[in-house]
Amino acid sequence: MPAANDALVVLEKVNKHFGDLHVLRDIDLRVDRGEVIVVIGPSGSGKSTLCRAINRLETIDSGTITVDGRPLPQEGKALAHLRADVGMVFQAFNLFAHKTILDNVTLGPIKVKGTPKAQARAEAMALLERVGVANQADKFPAQLSGGQQQRVAIARSLAMSPKVMLFDEPTSALDPEMINEVLDVMTDLAHEGMTMIVVTHEMGFARRAANRVVFMADGEIQEEADPETFFTAPTSARAKDFLSKILTH
Ligand SMILES: Nc1ncnc2c1ncn2[C@@H]1O[C@H](COP(=O)(O)OP(=O)(O)OP(=O)(O)O)[C@@H](O)[C@H]1O
Ligand SMILES: [Mg+2]
Repeated sequence: MPAANDALVVLEKVNKHFGDLHVLRDIDLRVDRGEVIVVIGPSGSGKSTLCRAINRLETIDSGTITVDGRPLPQEGKALAHLRADVGMVFQAFNLFAHKTILDNVTLGPIKVKGTPKAQARAEAMALLERVGVANQADKFPAQLSGGQQQRVAIARSLAMSPKVMLFDEPTSALDPEMINEVLDVMTDLAHEGMTMIVVTHEMGFARRAANRVVFMADGEIQEEADPETFFTAPTSARAKDFLSKILTH
């Protein structure tokens, strides 16, 4: 077991409503440095809201969220720094359409971190190399496949040297033949020790890369277990029902 001070992301009694809808209910979650968590659960269970709350794209109503021991800041410069600590990759690629691939990756380091241009370019090229798209550096996003764009989105997040990476269904908008190239990059990242919170229904990825599966339903964490245990011997009725649906379709 990692020591207590290895906790990197900690949620305690987190609650969130959208009007009458109680979307996060007393969420307690601790993610240690280097740990990879896969979050799964039915549509509407609160998975995206959880990610957005950790990245402070959503406010919470009560409870606390800390990243590396620091509570989430409300706004201003401290929030910009938190966003640099927490990288996020969404289902849609969200690249800047009118900037080249290279410029997409260098923009954050230059504007937010004040990295000198030449250094930012060298680091960006190394990251594009790492995700296998260095030869696309001078193109525009629309000229790349979905899988390539998503790998650029990962490189762009990594360029900010995040402490933790959040992925919200990063492969669900991709054509099947492109899913693996993105999952391979994520698996490498996991094996290199990146702390990751990944919303995905890709069980192969969960089995290869995750330390723990967190199952959400109705805004609650219903069950947590290592992937093998969760997929072969789920305990809650909700998890059994959910797995029977995703396994048979
Ligand atoms: N901005 C919003 N305003 C109002 N309701 C919202 C908002 N965002 C999400 N919700 C609602 O909150 C609940 C949780 O949504 P969330 O997107 O977190 O679910 P999810 O688990 O990510 O679902 P999916 O698997 O479909 O992506 C849903 O009922 C959703 O309709
Ligand atoms: Mg979602």
